[in-house]
Amino acid sequence: MEKRDIYPVDEKTAERAWIDRTQYEQMYRRSIESPDAFWADQLDQLDWATRPTKMNESSFKRDEVVIRWFADGELNAAYNCIDRHLDERADQVAILWEGDDPSESKRITYRELHAAVGKLANGLKSLGVSRGDTVTLYMPMIPEAAYAMLACARIGAVHSVVFGGFSPDALAGRIKDSGSKLVITADQSLRGGKRVPLKDNVDDALTRAGTDCVERVLVVQRGGDPIDWQEKDLWYHELVEGQSSECAVETMNAEDPLFILYTSGSTGTPKGLKHTTGGYLLFAAMTHRYVFDYHDGDIYWCAADVGWITGHTYIVYGPLANGATTLMFEGVPSYPDHGRLGEVIDKYGVNILYTSPTMVRALMAHGDQVLSTSRRDSLRLLGSVGEPINPEAWHWFHRVVGNGRCPIVDTWWQTESGGHLITALPGAIDLKPGSATLPFFGVEPALLDPEGRELEGAASGNLVIKRSWPGQARTIWGDHERFVTTYFSTYEGVYVSGDGCRRDEDGYYWITGRIDDVLNVSGHRLGTAEIESSLVAHEAVAEAAVVGYPHEVKGQGIYVYVTLNDDTAPSDELKRALIDWVRRDIGPIAKPDVIQWAPGLPKTRSGKIMRRILRKIAAGELDGLGDTSTLADPGVVDELIGSRGR
Ligand code: WTA
Repeated sequence: MEKRDIYPVDEKTAERAWIDRTQYEQMYRRSIESPDAFWADQLDQLDWATRPTKMNESSFKRDEVVIRWFADGELNAAYNCIDRHLDERADQVAILWEGDDPSESKRITYRELHAAVGKLANGLKSLGVSRGDTVTLYMPMIPEAAYAMLACARIGAVHSVVFGGFSPDALAGRIKDSGSKLVITADQSLRGGKRVPLKDNVDDALTRAGTDCVERVLVVQRGGDPIDWQEKDLWYHELVEGQSSECAVETMNAEDPLFILYTSGSTGTPKGLKHTTGGYLLFAAMTHRYVFDYHDGDIYWCAADVGWITGHTYIVYGPLANGATTLMFEGVPSYPDHGRLGEVIDKYGVNILYTSPTMVRALMAHGDQVLSTSRRDSLRLLGSVGEPINPEAWHWFHRVVGNGRCPIVDTWWQTESGGHLITALPGAIDLKPGSATLPFFGVEPALLDPEGRELEGAASGNLVIKRSWPGQARTIWGDHERFVTTYFSTYEGVYVSGDGCRRDEDGYYWITGRIDDVLNVSGHRLGTAEIESSLVAHEAVAEAAVVGYPHEVKGQGIYVYVTLNDDTAPSDELKRALIDWVRRDIGPIAKPDVIQWAPGLPKTRSGKIMRRILRKIAAGELDGLGDTSTLADPGVVDELIGSRGR
């Protein structure tokens, strides 16, 4: 019989772990059978101003969808991430910052974090920002990004972080939708030796947004290049200078919003998911502690950007709530060269590394020697997030990055989930490369067939979650109806994740990827509709259809079919222009990899584009096109196959 690819929990890991196998089984059972008692026990992971007596009051029923946890509890997220640690660990490093240039670094202790956040919080107040106001952050990976998030949390303002790689237009949409009063940015960001003119982009965005909700723009001096100065602008260093470092915390209800984060869906504009204070923070702290088996003194590095949910939960809120030392990296792992990741690990003695399959595959492409400038002896645990990790990349991550010694926790979750939903626990769950393994406490997954029937045992289907968990997003900012339609209308009474999944005979979950029209490019979510609407806005384009195709490094690449207007001739120059167009319109992450000219698109008689066929053609799977007889014009398919690669 073929040897099964399993990595059992090793004894050393199990011994030090918070959760071992028996505990996992007992706690999981209790979390499902006696959820209120289970969650009441977990409340001690946070400091509450008023300890909640109410636990889960959520409903997934289509007509009354409500997500509510700990509703009579009160707390402050910044207090939990900073103040409560001051007695014991004021001089411990909270944030280790590694600059884009390897010669730049900073160590910020909890005491210093407290002062920096207090000054900024007072500064924000002096600008008239108060409880319930929204603030957009469009920032580099610098400590000020964390200060800004925590300063908002301290005074009860709601932050909306927009990834620094998004275009002015994308930023404008998010500023407007969130109704932000203030934007915090930097003059320029530095990544991989390149500069992105963040402040210029903000100026541009505010012009485009066509709204005057934004009263001030606060600018951190980072790149140092001169910038245009507007009436609304204010330097960050001038605002905080002279402010007191003591700023009283605002007592928030557990269900008061902590932040909004925009993410792509299958249709329409990006959705602003609203996360609230109590449930989110508890789930962030708890998953960070158990999944990474975090203990005092560990050096922890999540190599994501704060512009994504991974950065929110696992660079800032989770680790800081646990009094951890969290490493924040401004740069990219390929700069100055591909040895950087390992060198950063050695420089700080990193014990836990959390990164993406894309990063692993990018390194793997350079061969085993790529990390020869580092030893990485300090590593104890590796983590993966953002996309399915193929077993080949898993093994390479394990063997080369982790020197064959470190378990890998493959964590499946989403912007909507706030924290890990299906994941290994290093001391409790045997690993199978490519599987996210088993559900976290309180998470009840199920697989449904297209008619909504629940599948038992080993099966493949649509991954749904049957009950709420504390970190779940509460709604879509300003559009609860869309929240209900998107996540709770396909099937009755469950949360629809949008992912396909297989469960094996051991009950392990294997995520197969999105089953809706959402792409996952290098672990970043992009809606096909967003890219299509950008393309059709170009004067040469009559119609466009976007699909994902397998890409060796990025997981998925962006494949675009373009139908040109009658009076436009196809050319390579036009392809380049269209690629550049999307790049400017949305951001570099949305840049098409392949453009194919399509005289026509395969459509049903009712005019719906058959993406299934376009996906197959893009992937080069020309044999299994399935039934094309329902197409309005089946000849279109042969034409597309014939013109592939041209
Ligand atoms: C995908 C990122 C397989 C999935 C935290 C999900 C994964 C989407 C994994 C959410 C994983 C995330 N294995 N697929 N370990 N983690 N995904 O909102 O398709 O940026 O629905 O959140 O990423 O992406 P998001």
